[in-house]
Amino acid sequence: MLLEIKNLNKYYGEKHILKNISFSIEEGEVYGLVGESGCGKSTTARVLTGLTPAQSGEIIFQGEKLNCKKISGFRDIQMVFQDPNSSLNPMKNIRWILEEPFKINKMKDKKNMEYQIKEMLEMANLSEDILSKYPYELSGGQKQRIAIILALLSDPKLLIADEAVSSLDLSGQASILNFFKKLQTELKVSYLFISHDLRVVYHMCDRIGIMRNGEIVEEGTPEEIYKNPKHDYTKALLRALPGSYEFEKELENI
Ligand SMILES: Nc1ncnc2c1ncn2[C@@H]1O[C@H](COP(=O)(O)OP(=O)(O)OP(=O)(O)O)[C@@H](O)[C@H]1O
Ligand SMILES: [Mg+2]
Repeated sequence: MLLEIKNLNKYYGEKHILKNISFSIEEGEVYGLVGESGCGKSTTARVLTGLTPAQSGEIIFQGEKLNCKKISGFRDIQMVFQDPNSSLNPMKNIRWILEEPFKINKMKDKKNMEYQIKEMLEMANLSEDILSKYPYELSGGQKQRIAIILALLSDPKLLIADEAVSSLDLSGQASILNFFKKLQTELKVSYLFISHDLRVVYHMCDRIGIMRNGEIVEEGTPEEIYKNPKHDYTKALLRALPGSYEFEKELENI
């Protein structure tokens, strides 16, 4: 098991945000966390990346217990945010930005730096010309691909994608999802994939957790969740899906 979360509780002041959350992610697995705005998805991600402490519970990562009550970064868990601008330094060009993980992480093989960056750009369908550009010269989709590459260059064991495609239009979403899928099959990256859109997680994930009001109310494979939802809330989420034939078609090709 790569990650095990047991009875995690998080309060902001008096407000009980995460209520005894438990779930696990296996090596190479993509786990989707879905639920409406404010249910606690990003808070779960923030606790896992050490950005905010939890009050009680256990996080076991690669067999090691992490101290979830203390704020600290866990290098093996990297996060990609909804807004790529938040992870790219606007004052630096893309080459500088992508070389940074090699400077921070002294263990990393610098000889392979150029090669690794070029290989990732190719996988992301980006041309090498992009290296001399600044973030403001890039489209939203290009910026998000650079943000994903940046997270991966630190060799994380788990990548958390928090609404990583929601700022993009439908074809932009589909191309980023394709990139994620390629990374999963070729690099065997494990993901925690957070989205409010069940269609997106259906095509990306091996298992899905449905979150409501700080609790995981149902868990299952995409097939189980789509074809045989058990919880009323899951049924309501399925009914509320916007119908977009074109988007469905693009997702089917992933
Ligand atoms: N720093 C904070 N201080 C106080 N309350 C917070 C803080 N961050 C989040 N919350 C509250 O915690 C709850 C869960 O927020 P969270 O951001 O985890 O939701 P979410 O599921 O990610 O929603 P969305 O889909 O809109 O991103 C909300 O009620 C929110 O107001
Ligand atoms: Mg959120």
